[in-house]
Amino acid sequence: MSGTIKVTFEPEGKAAFVLPGSLVLEAAARAGIIVDTPCGGRGTCGKCRVIVRDGCSPVTATERRLLKPKELASGLRLACQAKLVRETAITVPDASRFFEQRILTKGVKRALKLCPAVAKRTVRVEEPTLTASRSDADRVLDALGDGALRLDLGAARQLPAALRAADHQVTAVLHGNDVLALEPGDTAGQCFGVAFDIGTTTVVGALLDLATGHEAAIAARTNPQVSFGDDVVARITYASEDSGLAELQAKIVECVNDIVAELAARAGVPRDGIYEMTTVGNTTMNHLLLGLDPRHVAQMPFPAVTRAAMEAPAADLGVAIHPRGRLYAMPNIAGFVGGDTVGVVLAADLAARRKPTLAVDIGTNGEMVLGTARRLVACSTAAGPAFEGARIRFGMRATDGAIEQVRLRDDVETSVIGDAPPRGLCGSALVDALAELLRVGILEPSGRMLGPNELPRKLPKALRRRVVPGERGNDFVLAHEAETGLDSPILLTQADVRQVQLAKGAIRAGIEVLKGELGVDDAGIDAILLAGGFGNFIRRRNALRIGLLPPVEHARIHFIGNAALVGAKMVLACTDYRAQAEALSHRVEYLELGGLPQFQAHFAEAMLFPESD
Ligand code: FES
Repeated sequence: MSGTIKVTFEPEGKAAFVLPGSLVLEAAARAGIIVDTPCGGRGTCGKCRVIVRDGCSPVTATERRLLKPKELASGLRLACQAKLVRETAITVPDASRFFEQRILTKGVKRALKLCPAVAKRTVRVEEPTLTASRSDADRVLDALGDGALRLDLGAARQLPAALRAADHQVTAVLHGNDVLALEPGDTAGQCFGVAFDIGTTTVVGALLDLATGHEAAIAARTNPQVSFGDDVVARITYASEDSGLAELQAKIVECVNDIVAELAARAGVPRDGIYEMTTVGNTTMNHLLLGLDPRHVAQMPFPAVTRAAMEAPAADLGVAIHPRGRLYAMPNIAGFVGGDTVGVVLAADLAARRKPTLAVDIGTNGEMVLGTARRLVACSTAAGPAFEGARIRFGMRATDGAIEQVRLRDDVETSVIGDAPPRGLCGSALVDALAELLRVGILEPSGRMLGPNELPRKLPKALRRRVVPGERGNDFVLAHEAETGLDSPILLTQADVRQVQLAKGAIRAGIEVLKGELGVDDAGIDAILLAGGFGNFIRRRNALRIGLLPPVEHARIHFIGNAALVGAKMVLACTDYRAQAEALSHRVEYLELGGLPQFQAHFAEAMLFPESD
């Protein structure tokens, strides 16, 4: 192609054609290779490493800062920094690839009421006669016995054939007053819908039998938009450029369609037997799916385009369910508290609780809701992606090779995900490691890691030997070089500890602000519900030990799994839940923490670790 250059990605040999000056990261995305970009391509994590022989712009100052001279000399570059200038081949090592992480598909169990928006009714219609030759439509609508029903044009086109294919017996697919489709014979027992949780990182879909309420299949994928940045701000930035919004929307629709195809195949259901799709997601994911310009969500005072629930023909978005299937997108609460939080509130029945209950969903943003039937207050904190592995020297997502559990006995004991030597540590191990270092006295409540000469006397020798001087303070060796899949040991550095302090400080400060707003103290919190992926893999005792959560008895902390998806299933199963969700989106009060002085005060305090358990 004229004006473009060819870039081949190894070892797959996949090629992409890009304009000179494009980032290696963009070219990789075009070739269908997802490079892990924990910092969203901002040049701070140093994790998007690729091997380039030639054909790229000179090494940048950022690369000099994040890569060692030896690494630069061996051809390592950062995919978010290096620009392509001529045809070349680039190797993307496994350690730099975005692999599926443990995806949470299960959620809190709820018996679902069944009153879906889509319903089927089977009728037998009189045949026309010379003396009574009314139209096909009039006879079907009469048989359905509801004068308010309207025949969709697409359904009208199907009508003559459907009516005559099964001896004048037809099944009408109804959505409100619309007859969406007419199927020959009695198909009333086959009525499906699909519920989606569209997360910034993962997308999960569940196929629901709307005749019985049973889940027929569940499937998940990584959100392919991660190629354009790991967090919502990076996606909004991309969406604000030329064709960025259309590109991001196309990516998520493609992913949704892949999942629908898998669900349909696994359950043995034709795609056009799926008549409705419901979605939950944060406000940015909601806007990107619907093609709404999200740019103002990232600008003070962070307004969403709309917080209302949105309904549309699924085909308008390119979603491949029944050609006249419908889409219902859960309402949002505010720019940074979206339909996923409405889903959590709905699934956990927070609005019916008599005693104060706190629901927390920890991700790149921490979203939390506290309250009772009388009042519910929500906030969102930019916790940063530390718990997802970014800005942590050896941090990684919860995929194969990630240390996911750490215990300190006479020496370090770890468990690693998958059958692989450790390559780094994920969020749950990070929480474990800090809790354990605090317990044995290597870490002070201020967050300072003690030096080799300051360690407690009774500390076992093997642990003592793992404390080593680092670049900024002292580091702790979690895995020696010989045990790892790397050419270095896996360290927990003093800088890592500071990052966790920032992240957990933000979440805890958000919780404290909510408590203050409602006048609830720790003893008054009846239950803490941890939703979402990270929350469900951490150990409660350790989360309490580092002060991520308020000090409540650990039996009062409950894991509620992917509660947002449960919310999406509820609004698919019954329109009553839609009315509740829409009321909740108005009822849950949103607190913008940025404008509150008490947030800063709590934040400073919450950065410290508790003195003891
Ligand atoms: S440095 Fe490139 S993604 Fe973080």
